[in-house]
Amino acid sequence: MRYLIFSDIHSNIEAFEKFLAQKKVKSVDKILFLGDLVGYGPNPDEVIGQFRTLPHLKAVRGNHDKVIAELESSALFNPAAAFSAEWSKLKISPANFNYLKKLPKGPQVIDRCITICHGSTFDEDYYVFSQFEATESFRFMETSIGFFGHTHFPIIYYLRNEKLDVVPLSENTRIKLDRNTRYLINPGSIGQPRDKNPAPSYVIFDSGKMEISFNRFSYEVSKTQKKIREAGLPELLASRLEAGV
Ligand SMILES: [Fe+2]
Repeated sequence: MRYLIFSDIHSNIEAFEKFLAQKKVKSVDKILFLGDLVGYGPNPDEVIGQFRTLPHLKAVRGNHDKVIAELESSALFNPAAAFSAEWSKLKISPANFNYLKKLPKGPQVIDRCITICHGSTFDEDYYVFSQFEATESFRFMETSIGFFGHTHFPIIYYLRNEKLDVVPLSENTRIKLDRNTRYLINPGSIGQPRDKNPAPSYVIFDSGKMEISFNRFSYEVSKTQKKIREAGLPELLASRLEAGV
């Protein structure tokens, strides 16, 4: 079985459409999404509309999805995120709003062997940025392999013989997984990468070969930036796309 795993589209339709056009993306059996369809970017309704057409899809909601679906307030958001959340609510059709509201809470276990979550396995909003946080997330994970988003930072944590380690994910990385090791993998972000590389990233997991491949592609960043500026969204949201931060 080949799984496509991706996260954090953040209303960036240019990045999302380019992602869907990738040859590798079209040859998978199942699609797993780790949350944050919307927030920050200029095309929330278009992104939800495209997302809803994906086949063989399992998804969890992200913190921005919750706020924009009015399941939670934006009180804990920074000013740019809160502004964009309020702006996004006005742009989404009632049908897409309902879809957003019904996105499942993480973690979810897929095919009894893969965990998907937005932040961590014990709290959908908790950021896994360090080995300490990854250790906590492993403690609450029921499967050997898990995928998480939220940080927009591609990375693999692995736990072997109670020892935790990290592998950075860089362009075209292929990693053979070991059946006696546990893994927590972040595919990075489609719509707002934050590892100082503006190129969106995703992962393909081949459960037959027990292999992970990490992939990146480029898209027209300036087109999305122009739309952010024309919509009157905070300038920070446009400039960070180019810097990949
Ligand atoms: Fe996010």
